[in-house]
Amino acid sequence: MHSAVHKPMLATVLGQRQATPPMWIMRQAGRYLPEYRQTRTQAKDFLELCYTPELAVEVTMQPLRRFDLDAAILFSDILVVPDALGQTVRFQVGEGPVLEALDEKGIDALEPSRAMGHLAPVLDTVRRLRAALPPEKTLIGFCGAPWTVATYMLGGRGSPDQWVARKFALEHPAAFDKLMDILVTTSIDYLAAQLEAGADVVQLFESWALNLDDTSFARNVMEPNRRIVEGLRQRIPNAPIIGFPRGAAGNLRRYAESTGVNVLGVDFATPLEFVRSSLPPDIAVQGNLDPLRLVVGGEAMESQARAILSAFSDRPHIFNLGHGIVPETPIAHVERLVDLVKSWEARA
Ligand code: CP3
Repeated sequence: MHSAVHKPMLATVLGQRQATPPMWIMRQAGRYLPEYRQTRTQAKDFLELCYTPELAVEVTMQPLRRFDLDAAILFSDILVVPDALGQTVRFQVGEGPVLEALDEKGIDALEPSRAMGHLAPVLDTVRRLRAALPPEKTLIGFCGAPWTVATYMLGGRGSPDQWVARKFALEHPAAFDKLMDILVTTSIDYLAAQLEAGADVVQLFESWALNLDDTSFARNVMEPNRRIVEGLRQRIPNAPIIGFPRGAAGNLRRYAESTGVNVLGVDFATPLEFVRSSLPPDIAVQGNLDPLRLVVGGEAMESQARAILSAFSDRPHIFNLGHGIVPETPIAHVERLVDLVKSWEARA
């Protein structure tokens, strides 16, 4: 964290605008890369891939060998935390994650005291990555934000409307608060350990910051994220943090102001003009190309990439997609996008 080498991505996180914005790609290690699919066959399942440092380091490095990206993101998943707390988590091919959904008794049965021991291999991966990465590359650690992780823990799988978790939070407020407390505390320990092991910055993935009224957004999203930022900075002063509240829309500004994150990740449905006019000018923004434009390529991709670069050229900006890259993405389109961003120079 205190190296003298210039890391364009870390500098931007800390508020220094760069003429050419640094870039990385959410989910940059993954199935669109043939070498990922190859390494994936060496683990018996997806969680084993996450818990085998040798393999996790390999897949983390793969996108950086192909593309001139400014950051590597630790290869893991947000659902290693429920797994570490003792909940049954499975990744079914073609189906996504499936968990044994928690009820009130299940929350009482979680075992926070075993979580960090269980996550030790992930921290080993972070240490190996720090040693393997060139010093100018930023290493990003992460976890799921408590509400997003809770939607999977309570619902048992992904859902378009998070119905099960939203209903549980309203019907069983005490049990829900207990679950959120466990996730806040575990996330602080986990992110502090990632920063101590060599991560330069950490990202909170709040993928389901949508479908919530004012009161629930404050309780489920803002307050737990704020507590993590505060708790982490008590342990590690000035810890650099990216918050990505996907779908927060009109709540983006109050999320930024209440949590104190350094960088606000914006999803692709957020209007560029809204970001320009509504967010504090000193906060760095990260985003926000629609991953579908990267699948299609050509003008559909290039014109919007330029619109984003120019809309955010007067503030600290980290170029990224507005959600994760998808398996259908042609590698040639990623190469073209990286060229386009790297040859951009803002007139200051
Ligand atoms: O390269 C990176 O960005 C690092 C690795 C990473 C993965 N998942 C690997 C992964 C990160 C940062 C995540 C975050 C994650 N995981 C989120 C938040 C971001 C988002 O996309 O909203 C969520 C909600 C999850 C939970 C999850 N994991 C789902 C819903 C799925 C299934 C959908 C899918 O893409 O397959 C996963 C599996 C997963 N996580 C894969 C990868 C590479 C695919 C697994 C495989 O190889 O079969």
